[in-house]
Amino acid sequence: MFIIPQMFPIESPPQISNLTTDIIRLSDYFINNPDSQTPWNEHYCQNAYRNYFLPLNYLRVVNVIRRGQSVDFFTGFQSTIDWGAGPGTASFAIVDNLKNQIKKQILIEKSSTALRQFSDLHEKLIHPETTTELTLKNLNVQADRTLLIFSYSLTEMKSLPPNWDQYEGLMILEPATSQDGRKLLALRESLIKHGYTIWAPCTHQNACPLYTESKYDWCHDRYHVTAPPWFKQLEENLPMRNNTVTTSYLLARKTKPKNDFTNTARLTGDSLNEKGKTRQLMCRGPAREFLTWMHKDMDAQTLNRGELIEIPEKVVLKSNEVRTQQIVKLKHFN
Ligand SMILES: C[S@@+](CC[C@H](N)C(=O)[O-])C[C@H]1O[C@@H](n2cnc3c(N)ncnc32)[C@H](O)[C@@H]1O
Repeated sequence: MFIIPQMFPIESPPQISNLTTDIIRLSDYFINNPDSQTPWNEHYCQNAYRNYFLPLNYLRVVNVIRRGQSVDFFTGFQSTIDWGAGPGTASFAIVDNLKNQIKKQILIEKSSTALRQFSDLHEKLIHPETTTELTLKNLNVQADRTLLIFSYSLTEMKSLPPNWDQYEGLMILEPATSQDGRKLLALRESLIKHGYTIWAPCTHQNACPLYTESKYDWCHDRYHVTAPPWFKQLEENLPMRNNTVTTSYLLARKTKPKNDFTNTARLTGDSLNEKGKTRQLMCRGPAREFLTWMHKDMDAQTLNRGELIEIPEKVVLKSNEVRTQQIVKLKHFN
């Protein structure tokens, strides 16, 4: 279980009714205008983002960082460029989890209002530099030690900015919707063609089965949230709950991983209880497959979507099912 970070608490929510109205308004705006720009000039947006969307996105990024850490993804990075940084959500998550290795953080953001509104938070970053100049040219970082981040910003852009492929690593998070998630899977193919290796969530560089074997599926992870009291109180007045949050993400590097992914799979679905069996979508190659526990053989395990697992030695292959006859273990490479 992960905890909503205590670095963004609403200490004493002054106008909880206004806040909930603002959150619902911004949520509706994002739903009705999935490709449009965040309306930073509106007060309701600033209020809702700071107190609700920022902590939730932060939590998503922290969890993607944890997925990356479990495959040693972050080794060697010394600087980050956060494109479409807004408040700097992803940059904060980096500081909180990788502060011993990061020496410089650049935030590139189209909206000067966003940079101004959140300047109090940017002070907490490591040698931060903020700019509204939308270019990756002449930045004072070493490209082969730099992680380029897009946290919920590609959804507002037509394509990656020129010169994106000079950097060693990419961390991309997008909304876990069919539309954005599938765009990310198309981008995955393009990154591989550009010589990048996808370190997570993928366990292989073949075609993505969710992309090629279905018209609507998309890869996304789910994280369990333990919220502090102020957040629960806030949610009581909202139509949406965040017991879990989801995200679609890619972690890619020019360097290839040292880890051996043989017999390793990613759980890409939630556990499905059916008559006589429990199935869970998993990914270890180009085929769309389910890890399956037959109830007559053994008790089913309930594993979280997004975890890496070791494929047990004793399995029976039946159609698109990999039926396990042994306990399935989680896999961590570090
Ligand atoms: C949904 S917000 C995400 C903010 C932050 N990265 C986060 O994870 O919470 C998307 C951000 O991308 C910015 N943006 C949109 N198009 C952009 C572009 N072409 N170049 C730079 N930033 C852009 C918006 O102004 C907005 O701040």
